[in-house]
Amino acid sequence: MSDIKYLFEPESICIIGASDKKNKIGYKIMENIKSGGYQGKVYPINPNLEEILGYKVYKNISDINEIDEIDIAVIAVPEPLVLNALKTCPSKKIKYVLVITSGFSEIGKNKEEKDLVDFAHQHNIRILGPNIFGHFVNKSNLNASFASGNIPKGNVALISQSGALGSALIGETGEENIGLSAIVPLGNKCDVDESDLIEYLKNDDSTKVILIYMEGVKNGEKLIPLLKETTMKKPVIIIKSGRSKKGAQAAASHTGSLSGSDEIFQSIMNQTGVHRPENVVQALQWAKFLANTPMPRGENTLIITNGGGVGVMAADACEKYGVHMYDNYNSLSEAFSQYVPEFGSVKNPIDVTGQVGIEGYEKCIEAAVNHPDIHAILCLGCEHALFQEEALKTTIEKIHNLYGHIKPIQYVFYGGKSIKNAARYLKAKGIPMYFDVYDAVSSLGELFKTYRYKQIRHQFESDDTKGIVINYAAISDILRGVENDKRQFLLANESRGLMEAAGISMPKSFVAKTVDEAIHYFNKINATVVMKIVSKDIVHKSDAGGVRLNIENEQELMNAWEVIMLNARKYNPQAVIRGIEICEQINLDTETIVGGRRDSSYGPMLMFGSGGIYVEILKDVAFRSNTFSKAEIHNMLKETKLYPLLLGVRGMGPKDIDAVVDVILRVALILKHFDQISDIEINPLVVYDKNCGARAVDARILIK
Ligand code: ACO
Repeated sequence: MSDIKYLFEPESICIIGASDKKNKIGYKIMENIKSGGYQGKVYPINPNLEEILGYKVYKNISDINEIDEIDIAVIAVPEPLVLNALKTCPSKKIKYVLVITSGFSEIGKNKEEKDLVDFAHQHNIRILGPNIFGHFVNKSNLNASFASGNIPKGNVALISQSGALGSALIGETGEENIGLSAIVPLGNKCDVDESDLIEYLKNDDSTKVILIYMEGVKNGEKLIPLLKETTMKKPVIIIKSGRSKKGAQAAASHTGSLSGSDEIFQSIMNQTGVHRPENVVQALQWAKFLANTPMPRGENTLIITNGGGVGVMAADACEKYGVHMYDNYNSLSEAFSQYVPEFGSVKNPIDVTGQVGIEGYEKCIEAAVNHPDIHAILCLGCEHALFQEEALKTTIEKIHNLYGHIKPIQYVFYGGKSIKNAARYLKAKGIPMYFDVYDAVSSLGELFKTYRYKQIRHQFESDDTKGIVINYAAISDILRGVENDKRQFLLANESRGLMEAAGISMPKSFVAKTVDEAIHYFNKINATVVMKIVSKDIVHKSDAGGVRLNIENEQELMNAWEVIMLNARKYNPQAVIRGIEICEQINLDTETIVGGRRDSSYGPMLMFGSGGIYVEILKDVAFRSNTFSKAEIHNMLKETKLYPLLLGVRGMGPKDIDAVVDVILRVALILKHFDQISDIEINPLVVYDKNCGARAVDARILIK
């Protein structure tokens, strides 16, 4: 397939459907190419014209005699003509085709779109779109789009699945003084997808931040490793809509509704170090800050303020966004006492008080920049008589030029018209100036997130499964039996056998065909037991009245046998009943759920969360793309509300987190080795006190 470089750095381009009529898209694209200053070869194609904007027009691609190969074709003719236009492209070995035209799969014309892809792939052509506004690449001076001609130039690359939003974002970035290195819409994403584009942008020196608007992920398995690699080089910000998903599309197992795509998506973002803003405004603020701010060398932030109130607000914001405030009082006192009046404070937030004008800030900032243990500075100010608009502008600009490239420094100034004027002026100069402290700290929090991710990322690549013994042969035998039986789920005893072969502890259990056998097994287990119906026709055993707990003697066992059989026959008279499971009843403790499933987009995924019968109500679960790293699994655990309980609360000691991690690693290995397994769900996995282990009470396993 053609190198993605041709899309971003084409040496030649042809426009099929170029026009000289000013109201046509084919004209606007020509105008943008010309005014953008593109230096490559430009070949407009139109059967009726001789010249457009000074460019010679060709009737057909094959008429262009001066060149054998053209890198890009832009197609802007109505839908019924697009396939024929595409068919002319191989004559000049076109590498990328941008299909501007709307009216394909977005209105149900899936076949017409597929025909384009099929033809293109037969001829080594990649398609961007259809249904796009064209693309812009700053370093190639190429604006092959019908978007606004005034695209602000800079170092943020914008990838947008929605054409309209992408086009609107161009205007928004301009308003926020964010310059763009590239804009590439994906439209219907029939061929080229975000992964192809990230593949190029991750190594593009002119791009400092990649900002993506995404609606859905088609090939998550390809995207995940790419994002992991890219975020080590530059920040990736993804705005994703579609946070909810219809239950019907949820996964097959009964906790499928827990794994609605957005929860999985969010976990993947955490796992890959991607920034996920709540909205477009936040996305743009983060993009601007991350693209233009030096990476801190540690996590200590100092707040400098002239007002206690905003200092407190800033401290709240720091807690909210995970920003650590430097708190070494002695060191702060030594460094800042000389600049702060006696009635001020040298505790973080440093309060210089209203006594100090903007020049006083300069000394404090200088001291903070020179302090080895302060890594970021948040500078707050409230308007008072000592703050003059002009002085504010010149001083902050000077400070920014002197120190802005050494450490992250942000500014938030509250006040009236003259303060706002100064703030707008400084913002337009690219200085990290905000109108509210929460906006500033939210951006700073993302910078530290990147810092932290880079520090610990190597731990997530380790393989911690060495030493874990799994009887793969025994699992293969069990799965073969299920396949021979043409079932898509494992019976309870098969699931138990699989868990045992995987080294996951489950209570002792036997299936009895007769009541005498049941008594025999009860005596063999020699403990309180649970009895459960075994039938492939009865999946939800409790609903069928097929479960009895706390069986302590033979008489209770015989009574329970009769009741369960009666209930089961009443529930489903046709059910083939294999017997009743006699199962050791285990002590209850913290109930968790552990899962493994094969997601249609992201591939093998692990799940952990609060377990038991309320699992669907609690919806306290986190996910990870399959991993063999204990550190990564720990991170998944930390994302749940249950985690503090596992650490120990209110006089209860810590739980056996290591045992949970061990079970999850075993599930990860099963998913890796057995492609045919689509879902594993251990619920509950009862977790005991530290060093006392964890036991799986129930396991449901589905195969494809
Ligand atoms: N080869 C070359 N040129 C041709 C051919 C051909 N085979 N056939 C026709 N043309 C010429 C036409 O002669 C015409 O030029 P002229 O009028 O100067 O002679 C030109 O191609 C365009 O053809 P039209 O029939 O006039 O089509 P029109 O320009 O009205 O529409 C378009 C074409 C723009 C592709 C339209 O079908 C379309 O899809 N519009 C929507 C595009 C869109 O919104 N995309 C998503 C953007 S994302 C967002 O929402 C911002």
